[in-house]
Amino acid sequence: MRQTVVAGNWKMNKTPAQTTELINELKPLVAESANKCIVCVPFTSLANAIEACKGSNIEVGAQNMYFEESGAYTGEIAPSMLTEMGVKYVIIGHSERRQYFAETDETVNKKVIKAFEHGLVPIICVGESLEQREQGITVELVSMQTKIALLGLSAEQVKKTIIAYEPIWAIGTGKTATSDQAQEVCKAIRDTVADVFGKDAADEVIVQYGGSVNAGNSKELFAKEDIDGGLVGGASLKAQDFSVIVNS
Ligand code: 13P
Repeated sequence: MRQTVVAGNWKMNKTPAQTTELINELKPLVAESANKCIVCVPFTSLANAIEACKGSNIEVGAQNMYFEESGAYTGEIAPSMLTEMGVKYVIIGHSERRQYFAETDETVNKKVIKAFEHGLVPIICVGESLEQREQGITVELVSMQTKIALLGLSAEQVKKTIIAYEPIWAIGTGKTATSDQAQEVCKAIRDTVADVFGKDAADEVIVQYGGSVNAGNSKELFAKEDIDGGLVGGASLKAQDFSVIVNS
């Protein structure tokens, strides 16, 4: 039985002081949840987030990292910098990073491999644009993104991976995929994992849905067979709303 995992992607929001405040508000609201709760905060808020989450059931993730150990990469963050702080998860290949920061399936794969070398759990984002959906290539495209992202991993590593299906047209638009649309693609991701890494890996890999998840639609989405929780943007910035989603 897979656990439901709900991660908040705060994107470029909240200062360190605001981070402490939001987490302190969230803690009592999710304390009884049977689901896993993760907050992925800006790099500058990681220290405050880790401190605020101590002794609670909330875990902390970063929103990106680089695939080299150290060196002349101005502005980048190495995996060991995250793990030393106590970061457990890292979002990799979010569509905003692919769109604005030139990330590709290949850099996503390098980052995923590097994350595992350091014991970080990657939350890998895949998803199609509206144009690609209208062309009818969603399942093929997402399946290919998934295969490339996981290239070179062992089945044991894939079992620990989180894959977030985030249709680009549903991100920040208020246009959620229907639960049937989301289920169809999340199942395709799981089938792809089964083809490449076997049924055991497919049974254990966590597949989330992301894109305008809110307190009103999370329950129906997470009830679907192949949707094991969500990656939540806007609604994760409000403790009350996010707690309803986490408790779904
Ligand atoms: P919204 O929930 O704001 O649509 O963002 C989704 C997302 O991009 C999470 O990574």
